[in-house]
Amino acid sequence: MKRKDAVMSIRLIVKHPDPVLRERAQEVTKFNANLHKLLDDMADTMYDADGVGLAAPQIGISKRVIVVDVGDEHELIEMVNPEIVLAEGEQLGPEGCLSIPGLQGDVKRANRIVIKGQDRHGKPIQYDSTEFLSRAFQHEVDHLNGVLFIDSAESVYEARKPEDQEQDGD
Ligand code: NI
Repeated sequence: MKRKDAVMSIRLIVKHPDPVLRERAQEVTKFNANLHKLLDDMADTMYDADGVGLAAPQIGISKRVIVVDVGDEHELIEMVNPEIVLAEGEQLGPEGCLSIPGLQGDVKRANRIVIKGQDRHGKPIQYDSTEFLSRAFQHEVDHLNGVLFIDSAESVYEARKPEDQEQDGD
């Protein structure tokens, strides 16, 4: 879902091996206009890159903020200070990352997770997710802990087509 108001603001996506991608991102304590601008810019940047998720460190901001839109009924999900509080089952599937262009990998993830966090106003929010949405959340939370999919992938290979990378890139 693209916002139709406001001016688009697309940020530069930081690429591996930039050190900011390896830091543990900081908790957000102020739910102010700066945070709202960050969230807006992250969504614009994600959609512009045809990604399904983006974490703040990927635009060089080491804060615990993620956006996800896997094209399901949730549309755009914004989460601040996300925390996975339950993980069960297993799934294995391909992932890419906007910070690692041209590569994909098969990554084992929990199938179902419950994730808690806050919205842009600091209100508690929670999602119970499986399959691809769950995978996207786990990938983005990893980013906040300095972890990239290439760290845990069972295999890493060149993305065969640009469309593959765009479709799976987050
Ligand atoms: Ni990523």
